[in-house]
Amino acid sequence: MENKLVNTNPTIQVDSAHFEPLGTWTSDKLNASRAANPFLMTWVPGSARNNVMNVTHGEGVYLYDDKGKQYLDWTSQAVCANLGHDVPRAVIETAAQQMATLPFVYGGVGVTEIRTRMNQLMAEVLPGDLRAAVFPSSGAEANEAGIMMARRFTGRPKVISWYRSYHGATAHAGAATGDFRRWYGSDQVPGYVKAFNPFPLFFNHGGNNATEEESVQAALNMLEEQILNEGPDQIASIMMESVVGAGGCLVMPEGYMQGIRAICDEYGILMHCDEVMVGFGRTGQMFGFQNYEGVLPDIVSAAKGISGAAIPLSMTACSEEIMQFFDDKPLGWGSTYQAHPVAIAVAYENVKHLLQHNIVGRVQQMAPLFEECMQRLANDHPCIKQYRAIGMFGCLDVKDMDGRNPKLQHEAAHEAFNKYKKAYAENGLVGLHRYPHIHCAPPLIITEDELLDGFDRLDRSLTVLDEALGYYDDEHRDDNQVAAAGR
Ligand SMILES: Cc1ncc(COP(=O)(O)O)c(C=O)c1O
Repeated sequence: MENKLVNTNPTIQVDSAHFEPLGTWTSDKLNASRAANPFLMTWVPGSARNNVMNVTHGEGVYLYDDKGKQYLDWTSQAVCANLGHDVPRAVIETAAQQMATLPFVYGGVGVTEIRTRMNQLMAEVLPGDLRAAVFPSSGAEANEAGIMMARRFTGRPKVISWYRSYHGATAHAGAATGDFRRWYGSDQVPGYVKAFNPFPLFFNHGGNNATEEESVQAALNMLEEQILNEGPDQIASIMMESVVGAGGCLVMPEGYMQGIRAICDEYGILMHCDEVMVGFGRTGQMFGFQNYEGVLPDIVSAAKGISGAAIPLSMTACSEEIMQFFDDKPLGWGSTYQAHPVAIAVAYENVKHLLQHNIVGRVQQMAPLFEECMQRLANDHPCIKQYRAIGMFGCLDVKDMDGRNPKLQHEAAHEAFNKYKKAYAENGLVGLHRYPHIHCAPPLIITEDELLDGFDRLDRSLTVLDEALGYYDDEHRDDNQVAAAGR
């Protein structure tokens, strides 16, 4: 398509279409512009951009593409658009008011009313003596600040985190990360020690016949021995997702988090909970660690749900003792946009909306139906080995015909997943894919009917995956049907 160029500056010529209102570029115009101006993807090769739809708008739990097709957002994007795709009126109005009054003041120069209010609200929402310390922009930055905080408070260099974890893509958050995303270079940052959480893939803590209590104790014994071998006085923090998100909705067994808290207390190590994915209601508690009775971390990082992803904002919170420690010394972490007033305005109204509409209570109410649907899929589809669910967060694990994991982290996805992904889109679902896990994390405002409809769409997509993995090949058909019926 020919575009007229506008002379806005003697040396820079830009397309006149830039001066047309937003929402007026046609699909042809969008596609031509995309083809001429390639962009990069993040965790997949750049050419995958060709498979990404042009999203035009959202409404409730749905997104729409430029052909008018409706998609139910099955993972709230990256488990962050927790209120779906309509931003509450108060969020828009308060953000606009802040933008009109004072769009920006640097966190080290002035304190805005909105930040003061947000600090108070967070002190009221966070349990125990936890207080919001800083408000960075991303989850990774909130973890960077939390790691710096732990190192400077304890004077110790090492951070223990889990193999099955994700903490962000900046240097230190990436080094603390356990999944494949640290292999792009973050792994070379010193000072990070990886431990197994209670969900190793190829062995059971305490042996195959161990009870849950025995496995928990064995996992804690292993962790303690690791600490002793690393040097307890070298370890600043144990950093963990309270419910592992991208790694498969791993809910810690009874006693494990309490055991970590006790180990931390014994060796003067700080407990740092990464609540970036599950914080602000996803699990049916305001924070994921509140699912474990009596557990209060020293450091909490959060993001995503704090603003419902309507704007980038995160938070690093800490205990009163840590806060006081930094009274006469710098935290040693910062960013231009820390405590950005417009971002905080969005988060402030978003959190108030969660409270006023009792979204967390709603998640608790919906949880049994959610879990029932997960159970049904696990029963009905031979390719599903098992599932986990908490609140409005769930994960199905896919198995191949031999009962094995069809995609380890270092392996390319089985071709069957491409067929499944196509079926998923054709059935009107949109979401993140992290094979062999299938995450279920719709917006927290989803209605019962929409939830059932979403699970039906997933059900149809999983039938394609069953077939693509060979479960219904003639020679196996009878066996599998019998097996499925018997479960
Ligand atoms: C548990 C957890 N921590 C940290 C991050 C990183 O957050 P961000 O992508 O905002 O940097 C994520 C992102 O998915 C996450 O799930």
